[in-house]
Amino acid sequence: MARVLLTFFFATLFCFTSATPSHKLLGRASVKTLSSSTIHSYKPYAFYSSAAYCSPSNIKKWNCGANCKANPHFLPNITGGDGSTTRYWYVGYDPTLNTVIVSHEGASPGAMLSSLDAADSALTPLDQAYFGGISTDIKVHKNLANEHLRSAYDLFYAVANLLVQYIDERPSVTLVGHSRGAALSLLDAVMFTNSFPPLTKIKYVGYGLPRVGNQAFADYVDKYITSIDEGAGFVRINNKKDPVPINPSRALGFVHPSGEIHIQASGAWVSCPGQDNSASQCIRGTVQNDASGTKQDSYGPYDGVTMGC
Ligand SMILES: *[C@@H]1O[C@H](CO)[C@@H](O)[C@H](O)[C@H]1NC(C)=O
Repeated sequence: MARVLLTFFFATLFCFTSATPSHKLLGRASVKTLSSSTIHSYKPYAFYSSAAYCSPSNIKKWNCGANCKANPHFLPNITGGDGSTTRYWYVGYDPTLNTVIVSHEGASPGAMLSSLDAADSALTPLDQAYFGGISTDIKVHKNLANEHLRSAYDLFYAVANLLVQYIDERPSVTLVGHSRGAALSLLDAVMFTNSFPPLTKIKYVGYGLPRVGNQAFADYVDKYITSIDEGAGFVRINNKKDPVPINPSRALGFVHPSGEIHIQASGAWVSCPGQDNSASQCIRGTVQNDASGTKQDSYGPYDGVTMGC
């Protein structure tokens, strides 16, 4: 898909291709407490994730209350979704952070848990029309993949156009979202990583992300996204006892990429190195099964931001 546009996009970027990102992973071995400046650096993305719950008509005017006021310079470009079958989503440009923002609306923890367990939760390869040439060993949750495809085309065009419009030596896209929105944005992140020239900086910040794919999927994210920005290209922030991030289970073949940050009961934020870290300070060690989770924790607060419009 989008061949013509991609050709144009690649041609536009061609003169910059000498700068390639370093794909090295930080060898963080143990759980570490994060500083308050690191914690605050994620706050704009929490507000962008939360704003995706607001109606597209308000997003278009960037008039959605606290979530919009927190990032006052944002320039919305397009919106989509119907708020139910296809969660709302929007794309725009943040001139302060100099990045194109993509955000998908989330879902309530109850709805999320049942949809992850639904009959169409089998692992399925990515659609080659949107993920051309990607390994068929990479498999993702079918129901999430199907929803992702409903917005992929419009969203892809909008992001590519904005990258061209605001092009500089390091074009950047930041993908955010909460819960289901985090999962859909992660599929976008992989789609863009697979399609765009490597100098495009793909950054991902997800809140309460469920497991989206299998081991090969997690390895792909680690290799091509987490590795950007000295290992900070991908972060998934989990709050306290949110049960969503421990689903679907590892027993079903689902694996989380590296890059977990887990908010402790005390409110401290710690980084949990590796994929699905089982330490007691990390989500897998904290929430052993759905019954020991606290659904309300899914909404946050994440550094003071509670998800929702
Ligand atoms: C969205 O961005 C495109 C260019 O990337 C521009 O042509 C279009 O006018 C923008 N739409 C809005 C509503 O800002």
